[in-house]
Amino acid sequence: MGVGRFIALEGIDGSGKSTQAAMLADALEARGHRVVRVREPGGTPLGEAIRGLLLDTPAGSMGAVAEACLFAASRAELVRRVVRPGVADGAWVVCDRFVGSSLAYQGVGRGLGVDVVTDVNRAAVDGCAPDVTVLIDVPVAEAAGRRCAGDDRIEAEGTGFQQRVADGYRAQAEGDARMVVVDGRGSPADVHARVLAAVDAAVASA
Ligand SMILES: Nc1ncnc2c1ncn2[C@@H]1O[C@H](COP(=O)(O)OP(=O)(O)OP(=O)(O)O)[C@@H](O)[C@H]1O
Ligand SMILES: [Mg+2]
Repeated sequence: MGVGRFIALEGIDGSGKSTQAAMLADALEARGHRVVRVREPGGTPLGEAIRGLLLDTPAGSMGAVAEACLFAASRAELVRRVVRPGVADGAWVVCDRFVGSSLAYQGVGRGLGVDVVTDVNRAAVDGCAPDVTVLIDVPVAEAAGRRCAGDDRIEAEGTGFQQRVADGYRAQAEGDARMVVVDGRGSPADVHARVLAAVDAAVASA
């Protein structure tokens, strides 16, 4: 049994996380790793139900603290039922968003503060940190252009919100040695090559 790993992908709405998570998972499987693919919020029965509450509800339907707590509740389940058991069993867990999203969206985008959101998430993550978090960096206007019609409640927040989230992510990367910024511009294949190189470098130096 190989050593398990936990890899998270982060970035603003439409930056290409889901595209890159799938391509990364495929590449890791092609190398012979057992890969577990998960997304946040979701990835467990309770988490998927919480996803519905968070994304498919009308604008203004919840306050920022409740929103942060719901994301954390979904995360608590994911860590205990999927991520930690998967890594312990030798799998490479590829997660489309993790706690970095809460710090950027609720902490900075909603203005709750990174410290408050870190506190809300402490018991949820329970010390389970990604080996590497890849931040896919795409200008806000370009990411908005990539998104199809039918934004969910959070995507519908507009450019100012997305810009605060982008700034929050950049600040996070500056203070986190295990968060790597990858240029998300260019074709999916170009970005994938950068993501894979970043993961390889991070794993090699771990
Ligand atoms: N490198 C790329 N260049 C152009 N379009 C892309 C690229 N990567 C992904 N896309 C397209 O942009 C859209 C958003 O990509 P994707 O769903 O992967 O982003 P996301 O970060 O997961 O978004 P969300 O935050 O909404 O889940 C999709 O239609 C996807 O096909
Ligand atoms: Mg996505």
